[in-house]
Amino acid sequence: MTTLSGKTALVTGASRGIGRAAALALAEGGAQVLVHYGQAKAEAEAVVAEIRRAGGRADALAADLAAPDGPHGLASRVRAVVGDRLDILVANAGVSKAASIEETTVEDFDRLFAVNVRAPFFLVQQLLPILHEGSSIVLVSSLAARAAVGTLYAYAATKGAVDTLVRHFAAALGPRGIRVNAVAPGVVQTDMSSFTRTEAGRDFTLGIQALKRLAEPDDVGGVIAFLASDQARWITGDTIRVDGGSKL
Ligand SMILES: NC(=O)c1ccc[n+]([C@@H]2O[C@H](COP(=O)([O-])OP(=O)(O)OC[C@H]3O[C@@H](n4cnc5c(N)ncnc54)[C@H](OP(=O)(O)O)[C@@H]3O)[C@@H](O)[C@H]2O)c1
Repeated sequence: MTTLSGKTALVTGASRGIGRAAALALAEGGAQVLVHYGQAKAEAEAVVAEIRRAGGRADALAADLAAPDGPHGLASRVRAVVGDRLDILVANAGVSKAASIEETTVEDFDRLFAVNVRAPFFLVQQLLPILHEGSSIVLVSSLAARAAVGTLYAYAATKGAVDTLVRHFAAALGPRGIRVNAVAPGVVQTDMSSFTRTEAGRDFTLGIQALKRLAEPDDVGGVIAFLASDQARWITGDTIRVDGGSKL
C-alpha cells in the first residue's frame, strides 16, 4: 500500500472516470484530496462522500478549465483549503473528440488545446508557489500521443504536447525537488471511451492490446497514486505507459 498520509492532493476531473479512480487511490493511501469537477457536481460530491465514509478527508471544488482564467480560479480555491502546501497535483481533466482531418473545426481544436494543454500549463504555474521539495505532479497523456489510433488527430496532438511539457517541467522543477511525470493510458472504459460499450469497440480495443481484457479506471488510478508517492522518488520527466501492452 502506497503511503500518502499527511499529504494534500488536487485531482482535476475527479468527478468521473480516471480522475475519480485516482482520487480514490490517493485517499486510500491517506492523502487529503481536493476533488475538482467541471459540470458534474453530484458525481464529485459522491466521490467526496465515498472518501469521507472510508475515514478520509476530501472536498469538492468546481472550475471550468476551458475558460482562460479557469486554472487561476481553481488555484485560489485550492489555496483557500490547503493553505501554502500542496504535495500532489494530478492534472487529469481532459476532453476528446473523434473527427477526421476534414471534419475538425477550429473551435474543436481550440477547445481540445484549452482543456488538455493550456489548463495543465497554467495550473502548474499558478500552484507553483505552494508546491515544494518532495511535491509530485502527474499529467495525463495518452496512447494516442505515440500511435495512430482512431480519428483523434487534434486530440493526439494535445497529448504530444503533454509529453513535451512533462520533460520541460521536470527539467525546470527538478532543482526545486519537484517531480513531474505522466501516465499514458490506452483505451479505458469511461464516458470518454464509450465506444468500448459496443461489440465493435470492444473487439477493436482487445485487438490492439497484448492483455485481453478492457481496462478499468482504477488500472490507471493506482499508477497515478504510485507516481505521486515517495516510492517513485527517483522517477521524473517520464511518461509511463499504462495500456495493457497496446500497439506494441
Ligand atoms: N478513457 C480513455 O480511454 C483515455 C485514454 C487515454 C487518456 N485518457 C485521458 O485521461 C483523462 C481522463 O479521461 P476519462 O476517460 O476519465 O474522461 P471522462 O470520464 O470523460 O472524465 C473527464 C473529466 O474531465 C473533466 N472535464 C472535462 N472538461 C472540463 C472542463 N472544461 N472543465 C473542468 N473539468 C473538465 C470532467 O468534469 P465534469 O464531468 O465534472 O464536467 C470529468 O471529470 C483525460 O485527460 C483523457 O484524455 C483517457
